[in-house]
Amino acid sequence: MDQQSDRNASLREVMSSYPTGVTIVAAREGDGEPFGLTVNSFTSLSLDPPLVLVCIALCATSHDRLISSDAFSVNMLAGDQAPIAKRFATDPSEGRFEGVGWRPGELGTPLIDGSMATLECCRYEVLHGGDHSILIGRVEHLAMTERDALVYHRGLLSTSGG
Ligand SMILES: Cc1cc2nc3c(=O)[nH]c(=O)nc-3n(C[C@H](O)[C@H](O)[C@H](O)COP(=O)(O)O)c2cc1C
Repeated sequence: MDQQSDRNASLREVMSSYPTGVTIVAAREGDGEPFGLTVNSFTSLSLDPPLVLVCIALCATSHDRLISSDAFSVNMLAGDQAPIAKRFATDPSEGRFEGVGWRPGELGTPLIDGSMATLECCRYEVLHGGDHSILIGRVEHLAMTERDALVYHRGLLSTSGG
């Protein structure tokens, strides 16, 4: 391995030792079919205005459609939704929503049944971030439940409920 790939491997390892929640970031073109992908780079950014961000790989097949969508949803997965996290991280992108219960939110974005919490966001800004785009959304609608969260740590999915 050269120095660069050594550094990449170390950075991956360090970052994977930091536990995160797991989301499905999703959108639709008009009234069209929903599309989305598994994302753990989700974080809150600002309360006033209410902003959140996600980082989307330039090489993701949904990258262009997602960053040009006027609105998108962030579905924070519940502890029993590991199969959904895996499905939305696996090729092909088409048909990921087959058999997954969802409904359009007030902005028309896909809200996945059984999520721990959901946000509906309007696109606020898109920034460059190396090999990712930083998609910033303004939170317009939100809902939450008392469900446990799905957690990603050291490459494994588990539940915050233990
Ligand atoms: C737990 C987990 C977290 C992920 N987080 C991100 C992320 O934050 N950003 C991203 O672009 N891809 C992330 N991925 C990878 C994408 O989900 C995966 O590459 C997906 O197949 C991309 O879908 P697409 O090519 O249909 O857009 C993550 C995968 C997993 C399993």
